[in-house]
Amino acid sequence: ASNAMWGGRFASGPDAIMEAINASISFDKRLYAQDIRGSRAHAAMLAAQGIISNKDAEAIREGLLTVLSEIEGGNFPFSTALEDIHMNVEARLKEVIGEPAGRLHTARSRNDQVATDFRLWVRDQADAAIASLDALIRACLAQAEAGADWVMPGFTHLQTAQPVTWGHHMMAYVEMFARDKSRFEDARKRMNESPLGAAALAGTGFPTDRFMTAEALGFDRPMANSLDAVSDRDFALEFLSSASICAVHLSRLAEELVIWSSAQFRFVAMSDKWSTGSSIMPQKRNPDAAELIRAKIGRILGATVALFTVMKGLPLAYSKDMQEDKEQVFDAADNLLLALAAMAGMISDLTVNRDKLEAAAASGFSTATDLADWLVREAGLPFRDAHHVTGTLVAMAEAKGCDLPDLTLEEMQSVNGAINSSIFDVLGVHNSVASRQSYGGTAPDQVRAQIARWKERLA
Ligand code: ARG
Repeated sequence: ASNAMWGGRFASGPDAIMEAINASISFDKRLYAQDIRGSRAHAAMLAAQGIISNKDAEAIREGLLTVLSEIEGGNFPFSTALEDIHMNVEARLKEVIGEPAGRLHTARSRNDQVATDFRLWVRDQADAAIASLDALIRACLAQAEAGADWVMPGFTHLQTAQPVTWGHHMMAYVEMFARDKSRFEDARKRMNESPLGAAALAGTGFPTDRFMTAEALGFDRPMANSLDAVSDRDFALEFLSSASICAVHLSRLAEELVIWSSAQFRFVAMSDKWSTGSSIMPQKRNPDAAELIRAKIGRILGATVALFTVMKGLPLAYSKDMQEDKEQVFDAADNLLLALAAMAGMISDLTVNRDKLEAAAASGFSTATDLADWLVREAGLPFRDAHHVTGTLVAMAEAKGCDLPDLTLEEMQSVNGAINSSIFDVLGVHNSVASRQSYGGTAPDQVRAQIARWKERLA
């Protein structure tokens, strides 16, 4: 049989494989609520403008509510032959209310319809990402507050570099996740314009009111150019780009949790709620959630690259290529939100082993820079000479199998005669972090100031 929506021009229906490659209903059924919402706004506008009768608009409105409850009740007859969510809903509406259903598509096309539905969906996901990031930021902030002055090793190249505080490390992620949040907020502002009423591509000759539908759907305004409205998916690309950057941050924190919870580090312990065991090795507590979060960037970035690749080189306006936008964004959004929720849960439930952190902070010659700085400050050495003297002392301690504070004053003076016993003050990790008073530095006072600024901003 030929198609009910455009059968006038066709003698036969599609090949089965044509139907399989063409249909999107298996995934775009997720847009049903947005589709029905958009149709209701469109029908109300058509009636308000005198394009359809109030009676027809009322029948459409009621019918759409019936269709909505059928879908939500799980007894909607989805049909692959009807291609997508838009035609499934409209065909069912026809069955439910008859003739007035055919008037709904006046001054509209599936091109502006799908662009509208998808924008509404992505907007909801941006809101969800913003809320999830907010929860994660608060979890990191609570950890930072608890351990504003707990010293731990700061690393470069994953080699001990200088002592920092746990609070400082957590606040670094607060900064990153806050930027991620603002990226979603920015993207949301730009995407919040309505494509509805652009029709197929050129606009319409009917006296529509696009401002009315824009307002009804919570958009700030109608999109200004009908060609642009149906052609672009930059809102989805911005969502995916923001998601990718956020997923990179999540992946780095996840990697740190994996390392820190290992037997060799024991900086943190994941609660039972966020660990799995092994079916063969009874001692195991595996950080599976962290590992999966670490991996999510793979599919999220994959989705981003996929949609960029779909969109590049497409001539204006709509091409069916653009139907490939949805699965990528659905998958990326689902996985980002899951990863954000899991990370917030893990961070909230994390047990931090303060003693282990401090012991690790004191090992690995972590205060060598403080020693060199002392030589500059107290003995007037140029920094490069101080660096050399300190390097000699580190080599001496390494040969002795001890840390810098374990060297005797005599041993130190044999390398540089200007050294006196006050040097031992700067070799302790607490003094080291306390001295890093520069704005944004790791001194507990500075960390507490960072925390206070964020608490104010989040209040
Ligand atoms: N299922 C289609 C999509 O996702 C809807 C738009 C179809 N428009 C068209 N002119 N064939 O893009």
